[in-house]
Amino acid sequence: MTSIGLLGAGNIARILAQHQNGFRISGVFDRHKDRRDRIAASTGAISYSTFEEFLAGDYNSVVEVASISAVRQYAAQILGRGKDLIILSVGGLADKPFKEKLVWMAQDRGCKIRIPSGALFGLDNMKIGRISPLDRLTLRTTKPPHSLQLTVTERTCLFKGNMSECIRQFPKNANVAVALGLAAGHEVAVELWVDPAVEHNTHEIFASGEFGEMKTLIRNVPSPDNPATSYLAALSIVTLLNELQQPLIVGT
Ligand SMILES: NC(=O)c1ccc[n+]([C@@H]2O[C@H](COP(=O)([O-])OP(=O)(O)OC[C@H]3O[C@@H](n4cnc5c(N)ncnc54)[C@H](O)[C@@H]3O)[C@@H](O)[C@H]2O)c1
Repeated sequence: MTSIGLLGAGNIARILAQHQNGFRISGVFDRHKDRRDRIAASTGAISYSTFEEFLAGDYNSVVEVASISAVRQYAAQILGRGKDLIILSVGGLADKPFKEKLVWMAQDRGCKIRIPSGALFGLDNMKIGRISPLDRLTLRTTKPPHSLQLTVTERTCLFKGNMSECIRQFPKNANVAVALGLAAGHEVAVELWVDPAVEHNTHEIFASGEFGEMKTLIRNVPSPDNPATSYLAALSIVTLLNELQQPLIVGT
């Protein structure tokens, strides 16, 4: 069974704690003591009060479910210690030199960086973009206006342009766009809409190329305790962790 350290003890961490089947949470670190203690109490994990002690914990994999800034702050140290790293706040890899440094470190230390599909479906198939040219890759995200503290009376486009500019203007949209770009190895054209008629965040992906064409639509149900986070994102980590030990891997 895979033993993991959890970096972050918020909403997603709580869902992971409820789904420990093919993995065991052995250590947890969060800047909020009450949160890390809660996860520790429900899983039997050790609650670490400093990152340095957490880093020395007895597990080979760290699962980041904290924040983009935590990825920037801690990822290199985790890989430097030779631990595998699963990153959910994938917007932390938007900075190309930083991402390349982490990849180089992982290669050097013989460990892996894994990106779960998060709030999207179909990231596995998007990897064909790295071996067969795409002529279109668009991510259209539609959010309820209140999630961006906006009031509008009709469907409104907030942004249309490339991924890097979108992340600069709307950093909270970074995770899905960066994950898609990394999977496909391709620039992502991003559209961000608010629509008073939608209740949940919706992501549509349009791609075409040598393979043919595809479109997907995922309407994310929010996590029970955090309306800004999709439940699917937590499930995607559980799936990834469960598959680490499986002899038969499907759809990768
Ligand atoms: N890739 C995706 O599609 C996707 C989908 C959903 C969520 N996410 C990301 O996953 C992360 C976790 O989501 P969540 O809903 O559990 O968030 P959350 O706010 O409920 O919990 C995050 C926890 O991490 C802790 N934390 C953050 N930065 C830290 C730091 N530098 N040091 C120590 N502790 C730190 C916070 O105290 C908090 O308890 C977020 O960054 C979110 O954006 C990604």
